[in-house]
Amino acid sequence: MTSLWLDREKSFSSDPFQAGTKYDTVVAGAGLTGLVTALLLARSGQNVLVMEARFPGAVTTGNTTAKVSLLQGTVLAALSRQYSDKQVQAYVEANREGQAWLLRYLDENSVPYQRRDAYTYATTGEGAERLREEVIAATTAGLTVEYVLDAALPFPIQGALLLADQAQINPMDVLDTLLADVRARGGTVVGGVRLRGVTGSGPLTVKTDRGTVTAGHLVLATGTPVLDRGLYFAKLKPHRSYAAALELPPGLTPPPGMYLSAEEPTHSLRDYEADGRRLLLVGGHGHHVGRTPSEKSHLAGLLDWAGTHFPGATATHTWSAQDYQATNLMPFFGKLPRGRDRILFGTGYNKWGMTNAVAVALGISADILGGQLPWADTIHHRVTSPAGAFSAVALNAKVAATLATGWGKLASDGAALLPDGAGKVYRDGARPVAVSTVGGTTCRLSAVCTHLGGIVHWNDSELTWDCPLHGSRFSSDGQLLEGPATKNLPRAGKG
Ligand SMILES: Cc1cc2nc3c(=O)[nH]c(=O)nc-3n(C[C@H](O)[C@H](O)[C@H](O)COP(=O)(O)OP(=O)(O)OC[C@H]3O[C@@H](n4cnc5c(N)ncnc54)[C@H](O)[C@@H]3O)c2cc1C
Ligand code: FES
Repeated sequence: MTSLWLDREKSFSSDPFQAGTKYDTVVAGAGLTGLVTALLLARSGQNVLVMEARFPGAVTTGNTTAKVSLLQGTVLAALSRQYSDKQVQAYVEANREGQAWLLRYLDENSVPYQRRDAYTYATTGEGAERLREEVIAATTAGLTVEYVLDAALPFPIQGALLLADQAQINPMDVLDTLLADVRARGGTVVGGVRLRGVTGSGPLTVKTDRGTVTAGHLVLATGTPVLDRGLYFAKLKPHRSYAAALELPPGLTPPPGMYLSAEEPTHSLRDYEADGRRLLLVGGHGHHVGRTPSEKSHLAGLLDWAGTHFPGATATHTWSAQDYQATNLMPFFGKLPRGRDRILFGTGYNKWGMTNAVAVALGISADILGGQLPWADTIHHRVTSPAGAFSAVALNAKVAATLATGWGKLASDGAALLPDGAGKVYRDGARPVAVSTVGGTTCRLSAVCTHLGGIVHWNDSELTWDCPLHGSRFSSDGQLLEGPATKNLPRAGKG
């Protein structure tokens, strides 16, 4: 399923990859985090290589809903339950600086974006209670939010929080501009090169699937970090959500703001104007990656909801994507443990990466270039609260349980022919095998995730193999798509 942003004529053309070359910094990953970091470093005169496993925007940034907002659902109330006012303020300050940098950059480079009021709305009494907590947390953190009873939505609400004058973007317009800018400042951007590992304590030897290069610093801007140092995969919840672009029937227009519900399943709304048409974008109905009986049913739930409130709407695009929530709710960024100050990373934006990714890029580049950001210091010095520690333990207990049942419950009747679009894991002797049929082609793969051995699950919406442990995903023929793994699923051979 292709997102509204990735459905375009323009394609990425890679610079040549030259094994053996020395760079000041290698940035792995060409999403928003990677390209902003690369630009900041290239601007300071560094010789930078951006190496992207697929193409820029291929994973989360090209599949986002791209609201650039400081009002982020009920995030601040959740942070306030675990952190001091100073730490929550540092989070807001980081996001404010990320938003300001991005919008200033778009202005300077004549990239279009739209100003919109942002709303968090409630349709139930419980949701309204969450709004009351959020209004206190937001006000304490210095945001001028207003409690309103009308948010110009076409369904009844109990109330809403309003933060005026936020923004929304087309994320691929932004990545295109950043990429051209990195190149114009002497940087190299290659696609189809995957980071596999790193060795060395002085300059780093950066290993890829197409040879090695040398770097003074390595930045992991890979969504979830792909090196297991620091064990961040065990502190991140991979969360997948669904989105659709809808054309409304004559007479209906999208609501004027950007919206997110306070209740689950979440419902997100914004508009987008393309080719003279004003589309409504809706999103939500998410779940932990690989832990649902049917991904298709989540998309269907989102479309049903949209059909109820916007009768006659027709979908021009539907898609899904995932982001990572830190168990202690605060993004992780900076120097990777055991990386000898030379390996840096950013992750855990919890679906608010349009501002967090830019803030993290500012933080990483300050670490490399010797700058200091007060909000970054405050966030780095946080202590994991008992709630954050419990959340990590609960996450990993669930991972362990999933691992155990993944092996135990497999049937041994996999030889039966599958209908097109179906996939199934079965036991072939001692081996778990993942078999699927897509477009008339049947593939038999090892069902053991190449990261740390999870048993993959068939995603019946994207037709992919998704790992329920830490969120790695593979195409039906085993190609790695995203997540902490660095290798494809191997073929299983004849059964
Ligand atoms: C459905 C959805 C809606 C969202 N809506 C919003 C929103 O409205 N507002 C908001 O602020 N945020 C939103 N977000 C969050 C935001 O989109 C993300 O946080 C942000 O795009 C993450 O950017 P990134 O650069 O860190 O990661 P990515 O864009 O995922 O980039 C990582 C890149 O690294 C590459 N890579 C991975 N492994 C390797 C490797 N080994 N070697 C080389 N390259 C590698 C990948 O191919 C990928 O291109 C949303 C997220 C989702 C899932
Ligand atoms: S993603 Fe970690 S085991 Fe699969």
